[in-house]
Amino acid sequence: MALIAPSLLSADFGNLERDVRRMDQSAAAWHHVDIMDGVFVPNLSFGLPVVKAIKKAATKPLDVHLMIVEPDRYIGAFRDAGADHLTVHIEACPHLHRTLQAIRQAGMRPGIAVNPHTPISALESIVGDADLVCLMSVNPGFGGQKFIESTYEKVRLLRALAGPDLLIEIDGGVTFENAPLLLASGADVLVAGNTVFGAPNPEEAVAQLAALK
Ligand code: DX5
Ligand code: ZN
Repeated sequence: MALIAPSLLSADFGNLERDVRRMDQSAAAWHHVDIMDGVFVPNLSFGLPVVKAIKKAATKPLDVHLMIVEPDRYIGAFRDAGADHLTVHIEACPHLHRTLQAIRQAGMRPGIAVNPHTPISALESIVGDADLVCLMSVNPGFGGQKFIESTYEKVRLLRALAGPDLLIEIDGGVTFENAPLLLASGADVLVAGNTVFGAPNPEEAVAQLAALK
């Protein structure tokens, strides 16, 4: 069974509470929550008050993906807003070990996100300090982009480096076509925005993704 984390970036923001509840009632494992600052990535999404509102409606864990510079400044604030997992970008963290410890001490599960150009070897000395690694399979900043094919090889390399316990999450351009090979390569968690919320029946799309081996 694949763990599916629908990306609320593709939800209907005018009906956010409805979409959160729909995903709570689906086969989804987590809600994926994308935070963009317009500096680390060329786009803005939403901030702490919206995360709080999502938390109020949600029963499943919030998997918060920070695409922001200086994430250390906001660790306590995202914990207070309701984040269960907090994922920071390796490219945004000069003291990543310290950042991951601070996230864990704040009571959240720490994750490391990795841009498409960053090699898996960059994780060698730090992967043991994270509960999850989020491999970006698009350049972060927007939903609905095309999947980057070199991701499969990165999944295989990361699984070999990290062993069985690390959760490997794939984020960006996940479809029914590429999901089976991602899972066969060693991925555990599939983030899906457009594939879920762009489907005629989002709950059914989650169920189909979750049933993949
Ligand atoms: C991209 C975000 C993704 C995005 C995924 O910067 O981190 O989580 O919402 O959306 P899709 O699945 O549509 O590529
Ligand atoms: Zn994301």
